[in-house]
Amino acid sequence: VNGRRVVSCLTLALLHDGDDVTTIEGLGTPDAMHPVQAAFVACDGYQCGYCTSGQIMSGKALLLKNSEPTEAQVRRGLSGNLCRCGNYNREVAAVLAAAAKSR
Ligand code: FES
Repeated sequence: VNGRRVVSCLTLALLHDGDDVTTIEGLGTPDAMHPVQAAFVACDGYQCGYCTSGQIMSGKALLLKNSEPTEAQVRRGLSGNLCRCGNYNREVAAVLAAAAKSR
């Protein structure tokens, strides 16, 4: 919402009338993926996909604030998104790859 990540399941949509809301569905297309989406594909940043939407949206929001994050900053930026597959290292690598590619 307005470039910040929010916990969508705890967010009352009525309170965001007029705000700029982007969901994973509005981020890119299979033919024109957002750089974070493309990096998740390139880095095998997803396994089952359960957490992938939140990880990508969190990575995108982080890169809007900080285009050159450290690994620790990426881990903090993705925190709160639980990956039951334990794929955290590849998810972090994907966000770092997206950041590096945008330089
Ligand atoms: Fe399966 Fe994260 S990829 S929960």
